[in-house]
Amino acid sequence: MSHQPSESRARVTLPQLHTWHQADRKLVMLTAYDSATALLADAAGVDIILVGDSVGNVCLGFENTLPVTMAMMNHHLDAVARTRPTALLIADMPYLSFHLSVEDTLRNAGGFIQRGAQAVKLEGGAKRLPMVRALVDAEIPVMGHLGLTPQSVNPMGGHKVQGRLKADAVQILEDAQRLEEAGCFSMVLEGIPADLAARVTETVSIPTIGIGAGPHCSGQVLVFHDVLGLLPGTSPKFVRRYAEGFRDLRVALTSWAEDVRSGGFPDTRESYALPEGARSAVAQWHP
Ligand code: KIV
Repeated sequence: MSHQPSESRARVTLPQLHTWHQADRKLVMLTAYDSATALLADAAGVDIILVGDSVGNVCLGFENTLPVTMAMMNHHLDAVARTRPTALLIADMPYLSFHLSVEDTLRNAGGFIQRGAQAVKLEGGAKRLPMVRALVDAEIPVMGHLGLTPQSVNPMGGHKVQGRLKADAVQILEDAQRLEEAGCFSMVLEGIPADLAARVTETVSIPTIGIGAGPHCSGQVLVFHDVLGLLPGTSPKFVRRYAEGFRDLRVALTSWAEDVRSGGFPDTRESYALPEGARSAVAQWHP
């Protein structure tokens, strides 16, 4: 099934996502963090744009997502929302934005909706159910997130694949049931074995969106910078690079710097000409 380019398609809505899922159409989600990345993601026809708290790692230079605040997320969400994407726009609840109280969670998530997000995503299972229920009650659609939840990097002891032990695998299966019962419209499954993700996908009726969770999820998500190879160094196992952005863009920037140093840039094509009438006045002017 081909996707429509963004110029000719209607805005993606939650009912549309549901229809696609019912028809077994795989869902495509990509992160975006600013206007340029959102315009590219939308022009490529992705179904969902996630303003992820991965902005902390990929754009802001943090080691993990824990330092990301609501103010940072709002700043990046605004830049994405201003592009008026046709993709469904989801904003990620950062660490501490949904841990303190239901009221605080509602205020933070409601702010995202008022800024143009159509839904929010939050990490965690059973512990977060009161927050999920309150959000759904307040007409705020929620995407869950289970498995390797990066905001739990400290208790997990690193960004490690989850659900390999029997008890952990069963916990993920149970959490998935609870999230669906609480009203989530979808959930991300991150960093879990492919057969566990397949079983979750079979046992819930809402779409699962995998990242490092194998091919049997209802859809897939990747981080923008990972798909395009925009960061130096090697990628994690679950990433497939569709471009070598860092390498190729470095070549382009090096050429530009060489042209500036050699006087080859700019030339007449990149310069403005002085109109005839002003040329002699400028030439004859003396300080
Ligand atoms: O923040 C993020 O980018 C995410 C996705 C990887 C699912 O949570």
